[in-house]
Amino acid sequence: TVIQWFPGHMAKAKREVQEKLKWIDVAFELLDARVPMSSRNPMIDEILGQKPRLILLNKADMADEAVTEQWIRYFHDQGRLALPIDAQSGTGVRQIAAAAKEMVKDKFEKMRAKGIKNPRPVRALIVGIPNVGKSTLINRLAGRHIAKTGDKPGVTKAQQWIKVGKEMELLDTPGILWPKFEDEDVGYKLAVTGAIKDEILNLQDVAVYALRFLSTHYPNRLAERYGLDDIPDDIVALFDAIGRRRGCLTSGGAVDYDKVADIVLYDIRTEKLGRLSFETPASRT
Ligand code: G4P
Repeated sequence: TVIQWFPGHMAKAKREVQEKLKWIDVAFELLDARVPMSSRNPMIDEILGQKPRLILLNKADMADEAVTEQWIRYFHDQGRLALPIDAQSGTGVRQIAAAAKEMVKDKFEKMRAKGIKNPRPVRALIVGIPNVGKSTLINRLAGRHIAKTGDKPGVTKAQQWIKVGKEMELLDTPGILWPKFEDEDVGYKLAVTGAIKDEILNLQDVAVYALRFLSTHYPNRLAERYGLDDIPDDIVALFDAIGRRRGCLTSGGAVDYDKVADIVLYDIRTEKLGRLSFETPASRT
């Protein structure tokens, strides 16, 4: 789904998430481990306020492990717990309920002190931008397939609680938030990782961004994947080199840049270049 966000939509999405906050004990802020800052809603602190929050770095299976470690430390230094997970395979997902319980320990202690013997399960809500893996995680936690309501802002239905083991309940519809659109760098990173659909951005531009990034940060992977002895500094020369290697030629024998762009982005998104992270705590803007 291509989502069009207007200021009115953003305000509505924010309101919808805030409506749900009163029902929950803890929010799960779902981020893409490969781009934790770019996949973050720019107003998230304001939206969630003081609500206990567990950060989940999803798609950690595709991210550079060393960089994910840096992010976990980065969030830790800010007083936040972040867990790396892979909602698709389920890796790390079992830790979520225990972490959530720990986060709301004080609140539940107070309930017990007031004489409530068996406090209810911890109630949680998943929030995140489109394509970060919210539905996949909900299904994984539920242990079954929960129908998707569609990523359209304003599509509502009756809220239901999904049981996750004995001690946690999850709202079945996630809070959908918007990324930081106005930042071009963010747009490219989301496009490279596949969070923004390809129709929206020029594929060649996205591939230029990706190749420049890989040349700087993962030159050996690039050289190895495309059989290059060295990585040309000039981006057109790099497109040419990859194009010739991969036989991306037009009938006239010129390099077909659209095809090169397609191949490079496909390779990145399907891990043909290995596990990649596109931002580090040090590089964040
Ligand atoms: P959303 O509800 O937040 O919009 O995201 P959704 O769960 O639909 O997930 C978006 C895509 O990300 C899906 O790919 C899903 O399989 C994939 N995904 C979710 N979590 C993980 C993870 O931890 N690791 C990996 N590798 N992939 C994950 P898709 O079904 O192929 O759909 P699409 O590519 O056509 O969007």
